[in-house]
Amino acid sequence: MADAESFRNLIGGQNVPAASGATFENRNPADSSDLIGRFADSGPEDVARAVAAAKEALPGWRVLPAPKRGEILFRAAEMLARRKEDFARDMTREMGKVLPETLGDVQEAIDMTYYMAGEGRRQFGQTTPSEFVRKFQMSVRSPVGIAGLVTPWNFPMAIPSWKMMPALVLGNTLVIKPAPDTPLSTVNLLRVLEKAGLPPGVVNMVTGGGEAGAALVSHEAVGVVSFTGSTATGRKVSEAAARLFKHCHLEMGGKNVLMVMDDADLELAVDGALWGGFGTSGQRCTAASRIVLHKTVYAEFAEAFVARAKKLRVGNGLATGIEMGPLINEAQLAKVESYVKIGQEEGAKLLCGGARMAGAAHARGHFYEPTVFGDCTSAMRLSREEIFGPVVSLIPVASLDEAIEVGNSVEYGLSAAIYTRDVNKAFRAMNEMDTGIFYVNAPTIGAETHLPFGGTKNTGNGHREACIQALDVFSEWKSIYIDYSGSLQRAQMD
Ligand code: UN1
Repeated sequence: MADAESFRNLIGGQNVPAASGATFENRNPADSSDLIGRFADSGPEDVARAVAAAKEALPGWRVLPAPKRGEILFRAAEMLARRKEDFARDMTREMGKVLPETLGDVQEAIDMTYYMAGEGRRQFGQTTPSEFVRKFQMSVRSPVGIAGLVTPWNFPMAIPSWKMMPALVLGNTLVIKPAPDTPLSTVNLLRVLEKAGLPPGVVNMVTGGGEAGAALVSHEAVGVVSFTGSTATGRKVSEAAARLFKHCHLEMGGKNVLMVMDDADLELAVDGALWGGFGTSGQRCTAASRIVLHKTVYAEFAEAFVARAKKLRVGNGLATGIEMGPLINEAQLAKVESYVKIGQEEGAKLLCGGARMAGAAHARGHFYEPTVFGDCTSAMRLSREEIFGPVVSLIPVASLDEAIEVGNSVEYGLSAAIYTRDVNKAFRAMNEMDTGIFYVNAPTIGAETHLPFGGTKNTGNGHREACIQALDVFSEWKSIYIDYSGSLQRAQMD
């Protein structure tokens, strides 16, 4: 693998190396001997060049009629659909999650791209009656200008598409900085957009780490920043953006609860908890990392859940039959190990897992056993802090009221779920859970692109991605009044 491909930044339609010449390696988390490629390790100078290219492309792109911008996105969606399998394989290789999941990730990008292509012919505003005769009024959207996007590694094509497609259809140009663990999936997405006819400079990419990200979100010409990642980094992004009054959209941590009531279909709940807890090796901000169980079903659920967790086939996500891949990198694995230790020290009962997998099939990857802790309380750090790994806490409760209280007791508010056959309980939880997403008889993961995605409290800062709400992040409203009376009409006075 010594001759692995070298990938460069994309700036103004040109592939250029980092100004410093530095590169970093992208390796397969299931097999560290598999070098996927070398990517530009960018710094502030590269970011400045990319922003300058976005600035140059802006006047031409924003005057292109929105339906034409939408048509380019539509062609891109068709091309993504044709290349779905290739892109999913690349993604499993660089990110680790199993092939059915990476196919889903590419599909989510396809869905979002088609959806936003349609917005080329919508972007509805309001018309509303005036206080006066012969006066007309309406509101229209206009692009913010240059968008700076910082994206995570767990949904390497879906999340970049959530940010890029609404920004583009509205007439913004952009610079994206993908996570250093998964730049190839962004390269794949950008190549499709180029082939679909996107003019040079409309989309630019700089790869690299925190230094490049910080330079992007604090660049004075960037009008809107959209970031997905940890709450700690989100706070820094927010502070940098606030100094220059930028639009700022943040999508951060989660500690999502799946509540199982005494009347639940337990088999269904176990299926949902397995998928919600261990899908993507638990590395989703929507992961069901807390299972709150009515005490009357606790023992039966725990036994069935642990038996199934132990049987999950963990390995290289490209191999047939594998159900859970590796963690993304060594640092993430060390974080999971530290939380397992914390859980044991806090008195939670380790029911299964709790160790790194080191056998021959796992020796070269960042594999960790599906791990379940029982007898957890909501006060434990294990039950409060985001781990972002295959670690699930089981928390017994005595009632729906207590389940809701425990569910809401964390700093995050992304997703919650309830398993019950009682419509009253379902509606009460739906109403009382302080989260941006809520599921009934389905796990906490699995959002579709045509409803708003995001969370309350320390998960977000009041914005939503996906659906038409994403348009609000990347546009300014302009209210327009046209007085055709020929005389001065004074609002609120005449
Ligand atoms: C994330 O966890 O970062 O709802 C995004 C879901 C996916 C997106 C998750 N559609 O689980």
